[in-house]
Order: sequence, then C-alpha cells, then structure tokens
Amino acid sequence: MTTYKLAVAGGGSTYTPGIIRSLMDRLEDLPLSEIRFYDIDGERQSKVVVAAKAVIAEYTDTIQVVETTDPKTAFEDVDFVFAQMRVGKYAMRELDEKIPLSHNVVGQETCGPGGLAYGLRTIFPMVELVDYVDQYAKKNAWIVNYSNPASIVAEGVRKLRPNARILNICDMPVATMRNMAAILGVNREDLVVDYFGLNHFGWFTKVEVNGVDRLSELREHVYQHGLLTEDVSKIDYRHADSSWIKTFKNIKLIMDHFPEYLPNPYLQYYLFPDYIVETSNKEYTRANEVMDGREKTLFETVRKYEETGILEDAFAVGVHGTFIVDVTISLAQNLGRRYLVMLENNGTIPNLPADAMIEVPALITSNGPIPEYVGEIPYFYKAMIDQQLASEKILVEAITEGSYIKALQAFTLNKTIPSAKVAKAVLDDLIEANKEYWPTLAQEYKEGV
Ligand code: NAD
Ligand code: G6P
Ligand code: MN
Repeated sequence: MTTYKLAVAGGGSTYTPGIIRSLMDRLEDLPLSEIRFYDIDGERQSKVVVAAKAVIAEYTDTIQVVETTDPKTAFEDVDFVFAQMRVGKYAMRELDEKIPLSHNVVGQETCGPGGLAYGLRTIFPMVELVDYVDQYAKKNAWIVNYSNPASIVAEGVRKLRPNARILNICDMPVATMRNMAAILGVNREDLVVDYFGLNHFGWFTKVEVNGVDRLSELREHVYQHGLLTEDVSKIDYRHADSSWIKTFKNIKLIMDHFPEYLPNPYLQYYLFPDYIVETSNKEYTRANEVMDGREKTLFETVRKYEETGILEDAFAVGVHGTFIVDVTISLAQNLGRRYLVMLENNGTIPNLPADAMIEVPALITSNGPIPEYVGEIPYFYKAMIDQQLASEKILVEAITEGSYIKALQAFTLNKTIPSAKVAKAVLDDLIEANKEYWPTLAQEYKEGV
C-alpha cells in the first residue's frame, strides 16, 4: 500500500486541528506515514500541534508527527504540502480591515485594499515556500494552497514560478454549495454546478441535481431569505457568526439586482461597497470576531486538554477540511473528480486573457486540473472580471518591481475604491503599517515618487 508524507505549512493555523480530523477520517483513501507541521512561529504552532496530535491519537498510532520551523526538516521527501499561512497574522488582518474603513472604504481580508495589502505581503513568502518544496520535497510533490488572498497568490506564483506544482483552492464555492444543498434538502455531493470567475469573484450559472436544474428554486428561496436555511449553525458552526449570516443574507441584495446567476458571496464587496461600509463596525471587524471566537476557543481548548487530558470537540471539520482532503485524494489517486479550483485560463473562457488565473470546474488528476470548457461569458461579467484582474495583475507587478506607482494603479482600479485620491490615501496608510513587509514600496513612497 502506498503511504504518503504530508506537510502543513502554517501549522499554527486555527484550521489545523479541523483539517487533521478531516485527514484522519479519510485515511483509507489517503494513507499517511508522516505529518510534518511547519510554521515560522514555533511557539504558536506548538500549541496547535498539541491539539492536532490529540486528534491523531484518537485514530491511529502509526503516523509519525514532526513539528518544526526548519524548511528542510519540514519538506524533505514529502508528497503533499497543505499551505495555509497568514503572513502578518491576525494583527495585520485587523489593520487590513480597519485602515480602509477609516477612509470609508471596504475593509476586508481578501477583497478591496485590505486584500491587496495582504497580497503584497504574501507573494514572496509563497514563492519562498514553492522554492523550499522544489528543493526538498519529492519531484512530483503537490502544494495544495489555501493561503489567501488566493487569487493574488495564484497570479504571483504563476508569474514568478510558472512550473510550480501548486493547486490553489478556496472553500467559498463549496460553502455556498453546502447552503444550496441544505435549502434544496439534498446532499452537497449530489449538486452539479457550473461556475466561472476569479477567486472570490465568480458566479454559479447552473445548479443541477439528478440532471434537473434547480437554480430557479434557489432564486425563489434567496428572494425571501438570502442563501440561508433556518439554522445555519447546524450545518457549519464557523459560518454561524453574525458577519457570515449577514454575508449569506446579502446574496438576496445581489440577486435582487442581478437575478441571472447565483453570485459568490464575496461579490457583495464589489457591487455594494457603499452599503458594506455603512453597515460595518469600524472599531470591531471580522479579525476581532475571529480573535475573540475561533482563535480564543482553540487556545482555550488546548489549555484545558493539557490540564485535564480531555479534548473538547471544538474544531469544526466543515467544508473547509473536507474540501482540501477531497481534492488531495483526487490528486493522489488520479481520480479525475470534478471540483471548482483555480487554474490558468488558456482558452477555457475565450474572451478573458489566456494568462488569467480563473476559478472554474476542473477534473483533478495526478498531473493537475483539467478544466472544463466554459465558453465566452456575457459582457457585464467580463468587464467586471477584466477590471479586477487588471487590479490584481498590476499589484503583482508592483511588488515584484517595487513600484509605488503600480501599487497606486492597482488600488485605483479596484472597484471597491471610489477615486485615485482615496486610493492614494488608503495605500499610503497601508504602506506605513506594512513597512517591514514592503521595504521597496515604502522606500519609493518616501522618496516622493
Ligand atoms: P492563522 O493566523 O491562525 O494561521 C496562519 C499561520 O501561518 C500562523 O501560525 C502563522 O505564524 C503562519 N505563517 C505566517 N507566515 C508564514 C510563513 N511565511 N511560513 C509559514 N507559516 C507562516 O490564520 P487562519 O485564520 O487559520 O488562516 C490560515 C490561512 O488560510 C490564511 O491565509 C487564510 O486567509 C486562509 N484561508 C483560506 C481559505 C480559502 O478559501 N482559500 C479559507 C480559510 C482560510
Ligand atoms: C471563506 C473564504 C476564505 C476566507 C475565509 C475567512 O472560507 O473562502 O478565503 O479566508 O472565509 O473566514 P474567517 O472565518 O477567517 O473570517
Ligand atoms: Mn476563499
């Protein structure tokens, strides 16, 4: 029997124990001999690994567990790397959200200026990870990447390391499908969807169950309730937080205006930025909600476990854990299963640039994703995507060239930002906050370019 060695980069992530549980639930499909946890913050990781080890011990004693801050120890000879790093951690997420909001602009982890700032911080560390894996891991090793902002990370790695074996994924489409399935009273696995777009910027164009399109039924539900069921916490408690409830309700707002397709929830930030800002709490953002919720619960659970030896089941596997393991099983076993992932366009959507990193259905094989042909998309969607794509592509150029002007162009092109004046004000504040992450941009800015 083939067994695999798997490394988790960003081992200190709040998602680690849930992902480990998901891996343990699927050991028959993905037998593991070793799991290596890698993080640049060894202290944080150590605590999380206590929980991860306790989860593993519930299932098996045959998996060797390694915890390290050394890349060679982490990646030598591994088959798979799960990447889930948050460069700058929650402290920087909080600033990504609060600085734009202080200018009355959307403050969000992956969308708008906050997402662009997070992107500027993450591209080089992701390239560094790709290089470590190239240097130490097995030749055909895959990186399965959740690290955000996934769209910008995907573009950065495509550009700087075009041959990397990395599959960029996002759990938002499957989370949206989980809600759809609950509304329709079917299993998520029974849905067959068509979808096109960029990451956090796409639309479901078909939702089929047993060959019957149920999109119009979902549309009727959304008109009444948004994309929510009676008790969302029963289907995944992560999305039971008030900000996520609001987000799934806002699908109604989007579909009241544009009923044709069912949108990715993140489109609320691009289509209704004014409304989002008006209804945001500038002093208490999602970063605060997560620090006071998921992160606190995780460390409390570890503390209690160390005291009592009892591990409370506080780590939701949810679609997040299930999805990355599903995709990896299809990669490992060459199953060709169909999932929504990011990949290079190359004609899949002929009226978008060939080198766009798009998110579409693809068959996942050992050699990577094979996209299903989508065809030309209507002009409204194309125009929105082209603008967002330009913002993200210019942003990658900004950090690789160390160009303040390009960063300003990227911010100005982002649909959440109303003018170049506001773009400059937000960018300049973000540069101050990110000095240690963007030395070259900060230098150009200081020199008054
Ligand atoms: P977290 O802050 O709890 O964990 C991130 C970990 O990454 C921290 O322990 C941190 O020390 C570590 N890290 C930072 N820079 C690193 C580097 N250069 N190398 C190795 N490790 C590094 O964050 P979280 O909320 O658990 O989220 C983890 C990541 O997963 C984030 O990037 C988040 O945006 C992403 N995420 C993505 C999706 C998706 O749909 N793609 C879904 C959920 C979370
Ligand atoms: C969804 C998105 C991720 C994002 C996450 C944030 O799952 O797909 O890309 O990172 O939400 O969730 P959080 O609970 O940290 O706000
Ligand atoms: Mn995502």
